[in-house]
Amino acid sequence: MVKSKVFIFRKHFDGLPKPGDLELVEEELPPLKDGECLVEAVYLSVDPYMRAHAPNLRLDTPFIGSQVAIIKESKNSKFPVGKYITGMFGWRTHSIVSDATIGWPSMPTYVLPDFGKLPISLALGALGTPGNTAYLGFLEICQPKSGETVVVSGAAGAVGNQVGQIAKIKGCKVIGIAGSDEKGKWLVDDLKFDHFINYKTQNVDEALKELAPEGIDCYFDNVGGEISTIVLNNMNAYGRVSVCGSISGYNDRSTKASIVQFAMVGKQLKMEGFITGRWKDKMLDAFRKNLEWINEGKLKYKETVTEGFENMFTAFAEMLQGANIGKAVVKA
Ligand SMILES: NC(=O)c1ccc[n+]([C@@H]2O[C@H](COP(=O)([O-])OP(=O)(O)OC[C@H]3O[C@@H](n4cnc5c(N)ncnc54)[C@H](OP(=O)(O)O)[C@@H]3O)[C@@H](O)[C@H]2O)c1
Repeated sequence: MVKSKVFIFRKHFDGLPKPGDLELVEEELPPLKDGECLVEAVYLSVDPYMRAHAPNLRLDTPFIGSQVAIIKESKNSKFPVGKYITGMFGWRTHSIVSDATIGWPSMPTYVLPDFGKLPISLALGALGTPGNTAYLGFLEICQPKSGETVVVSGAAGAVGNQVGQIAKIKGCKVIGIAGSDEKGKWLVDDLKFDHFINYKTQNVDEALKELAPEGIDCYFDNVGGEISTIVLNNMNAYGRVSVCGSISGYNDRSTKASIVQFAMVGKQLKMEGFITGRWKDKMLDAFRKNLEWINEGKLKYKETVTEGFENMFTAFAEMLQGANIGKAVVKA
């Protein structure tokens, strides 16, 4: 009999998640039936959407999340033993997976292709949903042109750093906004962003006016709130805004920001929100292009790895407070 460790969602979050909101338990898994396979988590993802979706989740069920797992036993020829698989299996060390384990549109269940020398954890980051989100959410909505000025908030996170790098590949001037000087140094020195603004220590409005006197053409918004209103007020006429997320409000939905309609109307901006799953047919193209850029050395990746399944909660809470540079993952 195989035992799985599982984090159960016990209490709805009030502000920043607290350790007692989730409980780590052990669960016995039943024997495999035909069509099923047993998988063991190797890397698990911690992401902002887990906090954003939490109010809609049922208590006393396993907490949601994607992982890369290895297939340990199989009664389904589509899932060969020894292969890696990714899917929304939740915060658990062992899972039983079958053809019916569908996952979310943007995070489907699939056996991983061979990653060659690249780490398989990239299936949760640069070569997974964050990478697809960066590629599709930025290129499809912002339609950037060479020479344009692009601002990215949440710039040192999983999605944001990749958006900025793609904007550089497309010939844009890129300004990243993030929460520490260490993050800024990585963005400018390693990823070749043109400029960085630390929203915790700098006046974002003054910094944007100084760093982008020509005005901003595209804004990729990961954070929402006042930072985003300030960026919109510094945009050029007919600027494009891709709204990916609003992490500044995930722990407190009553967070307020100044009105955005003045900028929207006065500058005739186009703002569009998206969920990556909408581009199902383009997901493979995004994966292939990101992989090609990584192999060519044009796209870099970084991960903040927390060791140990038991530390999932800590990794999650720390990511929400900005402890990660690049993608936050947990090594089981
Ligand atoms: N629409 C979609 O389909 C889709 C898909 C994936 C992700 N997303 C969204 O994309 C955004 C980024 O996700 P990710 O996975 O790449 O996470 P991430 O950026 O790797 O991690 C979250 C980061 O948010 C920043 N943050 C936390 N509180 C903040 C605040 N009050 N104001 C500004 N920044 C704050 C922190 O960095 P600092 O140190 O800079 O504060 C933290 O590192 C999230 O909003 C997420 O919900 C959307």
